[in-house]
Amino acid sequence: MLGSTPGWPTVLADGPVVLRPYRRSDAKAWSEVRCANQAWLAPWEAAPPGPWQELNSTRAYLYVYRDMRRAARGGESMPFAVCLRGNDGRDELVGHLNLGNIVRRAFSSAYAGYWVDARVAGRGVIPTALALAVDHAFGPGGLHRIEVNIRPENVPSRRVVEKLGFREEAYHQRYMHIDGNWRDHLGYALTNDEVAAEGGLLARWRRVSA
Ligand SMILES: CC(C)(COP(=O)(O)OP(=O)(O)OC[C@H]1O[C@@H](n2cnc3c(N)ncnc32)[C@H](O)[C@@H]1OP(=O)(O)O)[C@@H](O)C(=O)NCCC(=O)NCCS
Repeated sequence: MLGSTPGWPTVLADGPVVLRPYRRSDAKAWSEVRCANQAWLAPWEAAPPGPWQELNSTRAYLYVYRDMRRAARGGESMPFAVCLRGNDGRDELVGHLNLGNIVRRAFSSAYAGYWVDARVAGRGVIPTALALAVDHAFGPGGLHRIEVNIRPENVPSRRVVEKLGFREEAYHQRYMHIDGNWRDHLGYALTNDEVAAEGGLLARWRRVSA
């Protein structure tokens, strides 16, 4: 069934990196990767109060899945499971990338958020995923601008957007409640004209990572 969001649902891929909509059957894989990565993810994520293992249980996934599906169907977001395709052709769920808070008409903008399993960090999985998602957002998705907001201390995440050529354009004080406090964030953004001038973001990423 077609969703009400232009460009959604869709599957995007480059090499072994595959972005696809979540499935109900992702519960076990999602819960396992989230529970194994508590110390890696907690400093950077806005989370409701409660024990991590409960918030990331297979049971909790059903609520997360329902919310993601509802937001995607309502045109508010494009939530992708980030998978790595093995030599056997099977996809393993290793991360998440969401284009959220989609506002259309004169704004036509979204915020990108992401994480990857620490066990596959440093292999360019998220830069590839973000480049695929941004190219899709600016093409079939019909958006004009993508923003990413990052805590200044999060050097790996800042490297992701810097390698992709996002502009640092704002400093938001006490921007979001994360890991027990209101945290400042740096604002980065790209508009579709900048990306078109590069021949697409995936093309740019291939050039800089070659
Ligand atoms: C930020 C994050 C998504 C980057 O994903 P990735 O697929 O590893 O991205 P890259 O492979 O491009 O690596 C980015 C940077 O991480 C650092 N890095 C590399 N290998 C690493 C490893 N094994 N462990 C930790 N950091 C590593 C490097 O600084 C690298 O930058 P470089 O290319 O200039 O060397 C990932 O680190 C992550 O999930 N962190 C926790 C959650 C998070 O911060 N989410 C974003 C919130 S804004």
